[in-house]
Amino acid sequence: MIGSNVRMNPPATVQVLSMADSEGWATCAEKTREERSGAGQFFTPAPIARCLAGWFHVKGLNRPSLHLLDPGAGGGALTAAVVDRITGLRVSGSLPLIEEITLEAWELDPAFLPALRKNLSACAAALKKAGIRATIHLRHGSYVEGAVEALDGGLFGATTGPTITHAILNPPYRKIPTRSRERQLLHSLGMETSNLYAAFVWLALGQLVEGGELSAILPRSFCNGPYFRDFRRDLVAESTFHRVHVFDSRTEAFGRDEVLQENILFHLTRRRGRRTTITVSTGSLESPKEVRIPAERLVCPDDPEKVIHIATGSDAKEIRDFIQSLPCRIEELGIEVSTGPVVDFRLKSSLSSRLGKQEVPLLYPHTVRAGRVLAPLPDASDYGDSRVSKKPVAITVNDETRRWLIPASRFVLIKRFSSKEEKRRLVAGVLDPNDFADGLIGIENHLNFFHRKRAGLSVDMAKGLCRFLNSSVADRYFRQFNGHTQVNATDLRAFRYPDTASLEQLGKTQLDDGDQTAIDRAMTELLGAPSFA
Ligand SMILES: C[S@@+](CC[C@H](N)C(=O)[O-])C[C@H]1O[C@@H](n2cnc3c(N)ncnc32)[C@H](O)[C@@H]1O
Repeated sequence: MIGSNVRMNPPATVQVLSMADSEGWATCAEKTREERSGAGQFFTPAPIARCLAGWFHVKGLNRPSLHLLDPGAGGGALTAAVVDRITGLRVSGSLPLIEEITLEAWELDPAFLPALRKNLSACAAALKKAGIRATIHLRHGSYVEGAVEALDGGLFGATTGPTITHAILNPPYRKIPTRSRERQLLHSLGMETSNLYAAFVWLALGQLVEGGELSAILPRSFCNGPYFRDFRRDLVAESTFHRVHVFDSRTEAFGRDEVLQENILFHLTRRRGRRTTITVSTGSLESPKEVRIPAERLVCPDDPEKVIHIATGSDAKEIRDFIQSLPCRIEELGIEVSTGPVVDFRLKSSLSSRLGKQEVPLLYPHTVRAGRVLAPLPDASDYGDSRVSKKPVAITVNDETRRWLIPASRFVLIKRFSSKEEKRRLVAGVLDPNDFADGLIGIENHLNFFHRKRAGLSVDMAKGLCRFLNSSVADRYFRQFNGHTQVNATDLRAFRYPDTASLEQLGKTQLDDGDQTAIDRAMTELLGAPSFA
């Protein structure tokens, strides 16, 4: 098991996690799923709590005085997991130095306070039994307010703020409204983020003493993309990562809450400028697949985006090396990538399920199939697919819509979101302007498109680029840094591409664009890509 450095406690200790878990969960069960989702209340199952606590270094726990922070504590399961770990280590003789510990837990929702109070008292009693003095600071209020106040001198570099030796987090996953007090407070420390979970980790990192440790479970979405760039920059600059775990399945972490998202567990030390190796694991916590990688493979030191790559599997390095050795950025090919300009719900009255004389085709992601964009259909029902036949197929050209439409040209379209059942993240298709009578088209916002100053690409270039994007090697590289189902234009700009001649050669090759093996074989033969046969 991944937290196997957690020794089995001798019977002399009092275990508090299972009580904290069931008390917290009992309060959760009184709420509707919508209430919990709105407040970001998805509670950590005991095995994950144990794993996060188990990652704290024994050496780091063995100090006379500890200060544990649990921001957004819910029922206090994470604090309880750390207490179980400490009491177990203490009675086995591994923590001779520890004398006292401060347990600081923040919770905004008053519904959880009775359970949290009870569980923290149980933690203090268990610690006392193990010969450790405990002081409880149960804070009812917003952790953002409390942390900003504590970090009076600034986020990093404050001399009085950092007091925390250990932080353990499963922070609330919720948007921070633009005009909210929380947003203003964060702004006062120079932190710009729209999601509370990043703010919690960012602040907790600022509160850690040098050498202090942080374990957390977060959605994987912060690992790439522009919204979390500033957060990643500080995270990477101010800490040393030790462990990272990702689950194979999106339901695995919060199955009892029916939450579908990719999660990441990690453990780091607040410390600047140290390069170490990192243990990256995937799969279940009971039998993970582990690899050790140098720190620069997690985050490339000269990457301004500080994208976090989670590469596992025996061929992960080969895939990464291949893509990163490609010579071009997209702009060096004279090509741009943009997001489809038609936001359909803003132009509702102009959408149509029939392609009449006043309308032009409107392209949605489902029109991208097997390396091409389907020719426009006169009527939505012609798709013969009940999932998509309800979608409009056309948009009326009028004063309101004209600015969002563009002349049809040989673009490469790529889906921005993959559905649950889709095996691939990168799904691209070439638009053949001959299918569109050289008129205007609408490209809907769930698609990105490659173009040259809004004009199309040559036949060979478009086909080659599309095949490159549809190759297994490109898809698997993309998954190393993108943990959600979204394909941002920023990610596509940060990608590396073959040069023009190679892409054109790939485009010229005779092959069936619906045949994955044929695309991958051509990538190997023409470009030397790793083989997946
Ligand atoms: C994802 S839950 C995790 C609970 C607990 N840490 C666990 O792991 O089971 C996040 C918790 O943060 C609380 N919360 C939300 N916003 C908060 C805020 N601004 N300050 C403190 N707690 C907050 C929620 O009520 C919820 O209990």
